[in-house]
Amino acid sequence: QMLKVFVTRRIPQEGMKILKKAGMCNLSVWDSDEPVPRAELLKGVADAHGLLCLLSDKIDAEVLNAAGPNLKVISTLSVGFDHLEGRLYNLNGCTIFLHPRGIRVGYTPDVLTDATAELTVALLLATARRLPEGVEEVKNGGWSTWKPLWLCGYGLSGSTVGVIGLGRIGLAIARRLKPFGVKRLLYTGRQPKPQAQEVDGEYVPLDTLVRESDFVVVSCSLAPDTQSLCDKTFFSKMKKTSIFINTSRGAVVNQEDLFEALSSGQIAAAGLDVTTPEPLPTSHPLLTLKNCVVLPHIGSATYSTRGVMSALTANNLLAGLTGSEMPSELKL
Ligand code: GLV
Ligand code: GLV
Repeated sequence: QMLKVFVTRRIPQEGMKILKKAGMCNLSVWDSDEPVPRAELLKGVADAHGLLCLLSDKIDAEVLNAAGPNLKVISTLSVGFDHLEGRLYNLNGCTIFLHPRGIRVGYTPDVLTDATAELTVALLLATARRLPEGVEEVKNGGWSTWKPLWLCGYGLSGSTVGVIGLGRIGLAIARRLKPFGVKRLLYTGRQPKPQAQEVDGEYVPLDTLVRESDFVVVSCSLAPDTQSLCDKTFFSKMKKTSIFINTSRGAVVNQEDLFEALSSGQIAAAGLDVTTPEPLPTSHPLLTLKNCVVLPHIGSATYSTRGVMSALTANNLLAGLTGSEMPSELKL
């Protein structure tokens, strides 16, 4: 019996090959680079046994109801899972709404850790050393001569870096930053992590991290306790010379408060790979600021990483359909 699978986007061929080769899926694909419209998602998922989705698809009770009782597995092409119903788990850290229905969830941890950490370092350096501004000046004729006081920024050597959320990606970021001569590596999170030893990480209260860091790097997942974590109070504690980097989820930040902090000189600069909403409208106030570098959510965007993510997402889906062990099952 063929099992119906709905794929919400054109994805790297690696995953499609695996799904086709398995020979058990009746594949229906939203074959576009643009997100599936809500109505098409609700239609496409009807009677499906499996759903392969992206972080831009909001999967909530309406989608599950549209799918009906066949649905066994949701496999997302992402490590983040906050799009699977806004509030995924309660603060005790248990059960998500999918489990009562017996729906298993696959995701893609580990395989994008290196790519995302690299992008975070690139964004941090680009923001601190003002690369986009410099490139712009070269193009628009603003580069008149070598000037001692022009386009100066901040360096990592001798600095204090604070990582909010020293998980897989946070640790990979810390590992990469340390060799730049970082003096102190602070981190915060729900509990201290033994693996922090490797980077001489000091577990400190959030307040200490925010006050003492020259670079504040957000690498936590979006959850009820991290939503709008970076707000007016948070930015007011940062040094005027410090830099804020976020490559996790936009909703961890109150963007109005960030705009205020950047435009008033309360903090030096910000580099964001994630925003709310995504895409950020081109008229957004943050985009008028020279000291804000915004990227279009490309943390995991290397050819090879996206290929491996695609394959893993397909394999998670197949395992969910056949009731076998998933390579990466989300268990909370
Ligand atoms: C990217 O943000 C992901 O969650 O994979
Ligand atoms: C810079 O190019 C220098 O020579 O100091």
